[in-house]
Amino acid sequence: MPSLGVNIDHVATVRQARRTDEPDPIWAAAEAELGGADCITFHLREDRRHINDRDARLLSETVGVKLNMEMSVAEDIVAVAEELRPAQATLVPERREELTTEGGLDVVKHRAVLTRVVERLRSRGIVVSAFIEPLPDQIRASADVGCQAVELWTGAYAHASDDVERRKALGDLAEGIAVGKGVDMDVHGGHGLTYRNVASVAALPGFCEFNIGHSIVSRAVFVGMREAVRQMKELLVRYEPGESP
Ligand code: PXP
Repeated sequence: MPSLGVNIDHVATVRQARRTDEPDPIWAAAEAELGGADCITFHLREDRRHINDRDARLLSETVGVKLNMEMSVAEDIVAVAEELRPAQATLVPERREELTTEGGLDVVKHRAVLTRVVERLRSRGIVVSAFIEPLPDQIRASADVGCQAVELWTGAYAHASDDVERRKALGDLAEGIAVGKGVDMDVHGGHGLTYRNVASVAALPGFCEFNIGHSIVSRAVFVGMREAVRQMKELLVRYEPGESP
């Protein structure tokens, strides 16, 4: 079964709405682990709009499962990753005006800088993944710059407005998985996945990790983080490849 990375950024978003000390994303990470999360994911943004340096440090000290740091290639962020040494870094594009990470990193265009950053992170023992659209050129370029994994942007599937678009997006993801495996990379998926739409993506053979944030945090408001994670894990088991829905 693919592992579930729980992105806890939006617990910090609620905290920052009041610039106070609750809810604490560190508690959220512990509760997510108790609910069965295989990985805790956080994004230390350059503007520190939700997760801050204190959170990043405490997560790196307390998380017992795999810790995945989403990050841009800005120098100060790379320096934090080098110091904290999360198990995995997922390189993402970052624009200040966006609501959340929109689309994937253009690895083809930024080969030179990515090669340097990947080398720096890998030399600290960090597994490096690139968050990209499921395009063969981007996947091959990610392997070329030294990434060991890619996280395929599932947004086209999640935001599809009809079945034709949805089927096309699933086909692109399936092809992306094949290309990724062909260049010996682990293939992850994420963005816009919810309790309602995760089934078709979970049923695609070859994904080894999903990173899901907004939908899990939203459900946690009503049922608690532990139960919200448990419910998402249950869907991943129910729809895993080879199982009938
Ligand atoms: N993966 C990556 C690389 C992301 O940037 C995000 C959003 O922070 C997610 C997964 C999670 O997306 P969502 O909050 O839509 O589940």
